[in-house]
Amino acid sequence: MIVCHCNRLTSGDIDDSVCCLMRASCQRKDLCAETVYEELGACPQCCGCLELAEKIIDQSRLAFLSREALATLRQDASGNPE
Ligand code: FES
Repeated sequence: MIVCHCNRLTSGDIDDSVCCLMRASCQRKDLCAETVYEELGACPQCCGCLELAEKIIDQSRLAFLSREALATLRQDASGNPE
């Protein structure tokens, strides 16, 4: 789904960027559209997409944290460090 028409960014692009930024620093609570767009080599122009982008960023961030928590639980349950 195209989110930003000015920069031709899709929801997948935004999700990938959030995952990359979260991997670099798992406790990032300061992710905003500007940071994510910068990671993608873009910058907001008309800003019409930012509200939707912020929602996708929040969802992607929560999904990333959920996957990390699940992986930790699995490691703990198996007793094997990954
Ligand atoms: S639609 Fe994203 S900056 Fe214009």
